[in-house]
Amino acid sequence: MTSAAEKSGAAEEAGMIRIFDTTLRDGEQSPGASLNTSEKLEIARQLELLNVDIIEAGFPISSPDDFDAVRAVSDVIRQCSVAALARCTEKDIERAAAAVKDAAHPRIHVFCATSAIHRQYKLKRAEEEIIKLSVEGVTQAKSHVQDVEFSPEDASRTELPFLTQVVEAVIEAGATTVNIPDTVGYSTPGHFTRIIEHLFATVKNIDRAVISVHCHNDLGLAVANSLAAVQAGARQVECTINGLGERAGNASLEEVVMALHTRRDVYQCRTRVNTRRIYPLSRLVSTLTGIHVQRNKAIVGENAFAHEAGIHQHGVLAHRETYEIMNPEDVGITASKLVLGKHSGRHALRERLVKMGYELDDAMLDQVFEQFKQLADRKKEIFDEDLEALVGNALEEKTDQRTWELVSLQTIGGTGVVPTATVCLRNLHDQSTVTGAATGDGPIDAAFSCIMQLAGVEVELKEYDLRAVTGGRDAQGEVHLELEAGGHGYRGRGRSTDIIEASVLAYVTAINRAIVGLKSSTRKEKTALP
Ligand code: KIV
Ligand code: ZN
Repeated sequence: MTSAAEKSGAAEEAGMIRIFDTTLRDGEQSPGASLNTSEKLEIARQLELLNVDIIEAGFPISSPDDFDAVRAVSDVIRQCSVAALARCTEKDIERAAAAVKDAAHPRIHVFCATSAIHRQYKLKRAEEEIIKLSVEGVTQAKSHVQDVEFSPEDASRTELPFLTQVVEAVIEAGATTVNIPDTVGYSTPGHFTRIIEHLFATVKNIDRAVISVHCHNDLGLAVANSLAAVQAGARQVECTINGLGERAGNASLEEVVMALHTRRDVYQCRTRVNTRRIYPLSRLVSTLTGIHVQRNKAIVGENAFAHEAGIHQHGVLAHRETYEIMNPEDVGITASKLVLGKHSGRHALRERLVKMGYELDDAMLDQVFEQFKQLADRKKEIFDEDLEALVGNALEEKTDQRTWELVSLQTIGGTGVVPTATVCLRNLHDQSTVTGAATGDGPIDAAFSCIMQLAGVEVELKEYDLRAVTGGRDAQGEVHLELEAGGHGYRGRGRSTDIIEASVLAYVTAINRAIVGLKSSTRKEKTALP
């Protein structure tokens, strides 16, 4: 008898697991994690270098920005498949098809909820109608592309006999991948194993599709459930960098990949991922989204390879494998070293950036070089982390959606004085400048009040976080903050060797995003997404 693994995706090399990255779609649904098109493109380029199999670039119907981003990623990415998400509606699928039409390997990913609770309360449809909708969706997607994925949303809470019917029907209609989502993160490894085994045992045409899994982390089990599914025969895992995603997030790509890599003895499977690019990409994603990775996060957290106890340090020095099951260099972690200084030229900068995986066009390189020179005047030693931060700034500034730019800032703070800030902003639409002054609890608070008045938007500071980008007294301070306006959150980040300036830069970025969000009548309603 053919094993489940052999049956799934028979055309694929035995034991090969496809990595489907959804950082740009499900990951971007993390509250406050919105990315502009340049940022998405840079992440997509890095995902291609990481060698994932499929990049889910967005949900084109959800907003014009999402459509543009999927189209831009489709234009640039040549090695990976580019997927666009769509509900089983004509409009959604046409929009998804238009967005991926120029991709080298286009995929349309259609989904329809199948669980009783979703059928009854969300879709208000009977079982037969759900099957009809799903089959029609796959058929329509198939009229545009060969590579069609179908997801029965909330599969883990769907009655198994009905799930079998749906999966069989969509494969018959031409779905080449069927993804089994644990949409609400309800499953457990044993339960998920039974679902996948059940499908292999009951879906007659299952050998004609790759079975995939997509697990959310509400119970902290997303990676464990994904790995259980692999053991039961799934051959595609959907995941995100740093485990970003709705609510508690999705299965983390770095954890899934390194578990499969480190425990080949258990899983007998492999991926095509170039593991050495994991850490740089994790940093890029946290820089661009403003969502920090917790210190003790597996694989990419600051403490993941730090040994505190003397007995551990001694063991690692004597023989690394006494306490380390992975080599930090295998995930791209290298000791932070001085890379460039005040006298380094444009050529040296370009070379270093290429080594880090950034291929910037001339205009962007000029911009990064200019900022690099300014930074080198303030800071003697420039590290990779500093360069990452500069690239992050340049990507952010590349967006044409900015309204305000900081021209100058002067603050007074200290003991026995009234904290005051004087700020000058330039309006990038008409190049006019406005200047104002305000007082506050401290110089940062004063500067924030002043900017809010000058920009003329009502926002509330919800979150503020400051940390050093590298070590040393002259380290750049990196500020991440979140503002709330009109019921939505807007993130901003800023970096400078001066922490007040870093705070103001972050605030202006978030204000610019809030202005776009408040204006846009087509704002993406994240809560409506799966
Ligand atoms: O969580 C979910 O069910 C999804 C689907 C669209 C795959 O994100
Ligand atoms: Zn999801």
